[in-house]
Amino acid sequence: PVSVRRTDDGELVIGGVAAGELVRAHGTPLQVLDEGEVRRRAGALRDAFDAAAAAHGTTAHVYYAGKALLNTTIVRWMLEEGLRVDVCTGGELQVALLAGADAALLGFHGNNKSTAELERAVEAGVGTIIIDSTIEIERLATIVARRGAEQRVMLRVNSGVHAETHDFLATAHEDQKFGFPLAQAPAAVARIRETPGLVFVGLHCHIGSQIFGVAGFRESAARVLDLHQQLLEGGEIPQLNLGGGFGIAYTRVDDPVPIAELAEGIVAAVAEACERRGISIPALSFEPGRAIIGNAGVTLYEVGTIKDVALGVGARRYVSVDGGMSDNARPALYGAQYSARIASRVSDAQPQLARVVGKHCESGDIVVDHEYLPGDVAPGDLLAVAATGAYCAPLSSNYNHVARPPIVAVRDGAARVIVRGETMSDLLARDAGIAL
Ligand code: LLP
Repeated sequence: PVSVRRTDDGELVIGGVAAGELVRAHGTPLQVLDEGEVRRRAGALRDAFDAAAAAHGTTAHVYYAGKALLNTTIVRWMLEEGLRVDVCTGGELQVALLAGADAALLGFHGNNKSTAELERAVEAGVGTIIIDSTIEIERLATIVARRGAEQRVMLRVNSGVHAETHDFLATAHEDQKFGFPLAQAPAAVARIRETPGLVFVGLHCHIGSQIFGVAGFRESAARVLDLHQQLLEGGEIPQLNLGGGFGIAYTRVDDPVPIAELAEGIVAAVAEACERRGISIPALSFEPGRAIIGNAGVTLYEVGTIKDVALGVGARRYVSVDGGMSDNARPALYGAQYSARIASRVSDAQPQLARVVGKHCESGDIVVDHEYLPGDVAPGDLLAVAATGAYCAPLSSNYNHVARPPIVAVRDGAARVIVRGETMSDLLARDAGIAL
């Protein structure tokens, strides 16, 4: 899906810029973001939900879940594409505000927002604060009373549907930290409604991430709408936010539902559920992160060493690159699968199964668990790992004192740094022993 092609010499070209050129200018590892692809996906989600909502007599807003990858440039792209932005800490809020976002277009999440973070959000005029605990209601009540402010809030509930289990009826996942169990939500909503300065606008529910298909959303929406209907007795509820979590393809085996189909399926399910209950369909909102940014990212590494380790039966080829779990922790954290190609050339050599690993002192430091690479893969080859746009840079670390790579945006043959790489001085700056 990313605009990738090969030159006549077999070199990979991303967003119109050759891999070798990118690496000569910015080094490796390098996180490359195809700006056109980010904008296309943001626009496609916006259009798909707009169309689906219009077809079912409502409206829909798409919030970009900034946790997937956040910097001021991306916030501006999202706003330019007509999206809103979801943040979940004071730090993310600060990035969105520094990007010049109208605070009214922001949603603020988090299960442990501090008084200072809430104060900042209310002061800035954040459009919606998504409340996650009763203590947060009291913190907000104090803040709005002191400031004489009015704050729109949603209540995050846990529908008991957790799509990652692929068992949409499981209730075991009620045992997690986010949101209010459905049964405990009415008391919280009552408390919000009786608090001067807090305006209850609706329920919020996010069921998980990397979800394929509509079924989990349908089941969750049905459960949340039962509560929504019950709460209508206490006053109108204009909105419903069903979160994000739309799955993407990391490797050939992933087969995500096309976005227009997904949007129509989810909105139709909500519309049907409302009709069955005889209630009017609320204004909808969604919060995809990965589905916007994931496939638009490619990480370029340089191959350093190759080792064929003899096993009892056969051998395993380890191809080591100059990054790893510090720039992409997802394989180590979740056993996430990726795919890789040689970016600097094409080869006729027989493909050979390999494990691409990083340079960190940890055996779980895997970049791509299994991939067929040309048998003549050699030190100095550039390796491109696809679909690294989401949850790689945000989860990055300096493990083993390795600097974080820059993020470079490519578009129409031009590249520009949107987040500079760390330097050794950045890494050493906090060591008080050196400062002496
Ligand atoms: N809304 C809420 C309230 C969320 O908690 C999340 C993700 C999203 C939206 C966006 O989900 P998305 O559309 O990006 O799947 N680090 C993990 C993913 C953690 C997701 C956390 N919440 C990973 O690398 O797979």
